[in-house]
Amino acid sequence: MSAINLKVNGKVHAVDVDPTTPLLYVLSDDLALNGPKFGCGLGQCGACTVIVKGQAIRSCITPVKSVEGAEITTLEGLGTFEKPHPLQRAFIEEQAAQCGFCINGVIMTAKAFLDKNPKASEPEIQQAMSGVLCRCFTNVRMLRAINRARDGMTTEGRTREAAAK
Ligand code: FES
Ligand code: FES
Repeated sequence: MSAINLKVNGKVHAVDVDPTTPLLYVLSDDLALNGPKFGCGLGQCGACTVIVKGQAIRSCITPVKSVEGAEITTLEGLGTFEKPHPLQRAFIEEQAAQCGFCINGVIMTAKAFLDKNPKASEPEIQQAMSGVLCRCFTNVRMLRAINRARDGMTTEGRTREAAAK
């Protein structure tokens, strides 16, 4: 065990854990953050995705010690019920969820991508999301929601939306 300082969603938490513990376990078991989910545990499905220093990473295969002191954002850090992030709002508006299990990875991957590529085209978004596919029938709605969020996050998009109303 060792004392590790984690900066999650803007707050610093001191945790006393084995430094090799996967970040996902510490987030859920020590910090009670249940946005990131355990899916495969092998870095393949993306259900456990969080954003570290602007990058979407798979927390199930990330030793907690390796992200000590770094800015970590989980789904809980994106928005609130009262003030959802544009992606969260778009997912609600498009009703883009079925199982609810994959959605953390989809939204966090989309956020990291759109933050860096605010004007991404539809094919670019599709490509960026190819590692976190919804396995039921909601994938098309999810892509629609991400495109809608992109439009809501840029001035051009907001102008286009306003013109369409
Ligand atoms: S749980 Fe599947 S990639 Fe982490
Ligand atoms: S909504 Fe999760 S797999 Fe489709």
